[in-house]
Amino acid sequence: MSRGDLPLPVAWPAGLPQGFAPALIAWQRREGRHGLPWQGTRDPYRVWLSEIMLQQTQVSTVLSYYPRFLARFPDVASLAAAPVDDVMALWSGLGYYSRARNLHRCAQAVVNDWGGAFPQRSADLATLPGIGASTAAAIASFCFGERVSILDGNVRRVLTRLLAFDADLAQAGPQRQLWDLAQALVQPDADAQDMAAYTQGLMDLGATVCTRTRPSCALCPVQDRCEGRRHGDPTRFPVRTRRLVRRFEAWWLLLIERPTADGSTELWLQKRPERGIWAGLFCPPVFDNRDALVEAVPPALADHLNEGDAVAHALTHRELRLHPVAVHWPADAGVPCGDDAGRWVRRDQLATVGLPAPVRPWLEA
Ligand code: ADE
Repeated sequence: MSRGDLPLPVAWPAGLPQGFAPALIAWQRREGRHGLPWQGTRDPYRVWLSEIMLQQTQVSTVLSYYPRFLARFPDVASLAAAPVDDVMALWSGLGYYSRARNLHRCAQAVVNDWGGAFPQRSADLATLPGIGASTAAAIASFCFGERVSILDGNVRRVLTRLLAFDADLAQAGPQRQLWDLAQALVQPDADAQDMAAYTQGLMDLGATVCTRTRPSCALCPVQDRCEGRRHGDPTRFPVRTRRLVRRFEAWWLLLIERPTADGSTELWLQKRPERGIWAGLFCPPVFDNRDALVEAVPPALADHLNEGDAVAHALTHRELRLHPVAVHWPADAGVPCGDDAGRWVRRDQLATVGLPAPVRPWLEA
């Protein structure tokens, strides 16, 4: 796309900075991150998996999950053929579990609809479950050298600063304009290696130099081209009017434990609904308040509830306060909570079940 095709934002300053892409590519080769386990490959399965894991999770955490996942599911066919609960179990602790369900669906779509090979074009990749436009661009540029730009949260910050783009990203129009500008910044004659370095450079710049607060402008390879810096305060960008509001909720969890015949213990877990918080994971029964929890246990046990310390657990749109309450369930007391949507899981089998991260330590204690 040439510059003349771009619908420029009202706030658009002088024009696209000259030489941005070559400067970023050279910097990435010199100073960027190298040697991460997903960088030495152009296998779209491995790159896709890393990009999904890295969407909402720090590199340091992904570094331990990624090899474990690959050891269990070395290719897209093995992932597609696995029960979804096995995928959830391996994902346990990474959070944002819709990623794991979509990962499984996506693997099945690649096998069923694409003959077992990921499509190569970002436009096709973006039709697959869980792959948004930016992730599609990351896979297509890393693996197939497509000249297409990513635009995730970090890159939005880098580019709005570079361009002093001050239109409100809470609106769809400016979002589209920023996509067009991101695409216009891609070097038109970049080869596959250049594109991999460019994409990684955008990520690295956002993660290590152009940080949300106190960016290290003195270390930035495009500091001379940065309009945000020239305006005096790059941290004014990006502009977004809508603030994230987290709703507060208290959750009371009943940790039901009973002895097994062989001297171990087992815990009563219910599968969470397919939608909502911790969807598809196994979890102790949840109640809105303490009274509702007490009502769910036989009267004889009501005086034997063991309340632990509450912990705060922040999700994207919810601030949970989790109250654990433990109870020993007599072997002859029947099915807990009057429902059959749960199952007993032996304590030594907990590692094989997908559990919400804040709950696991209570159950394994
Ligand atoms: N965040 C998202 N994708 C990444 C990648 N490929 N390397 C490092 N951090 C990332």
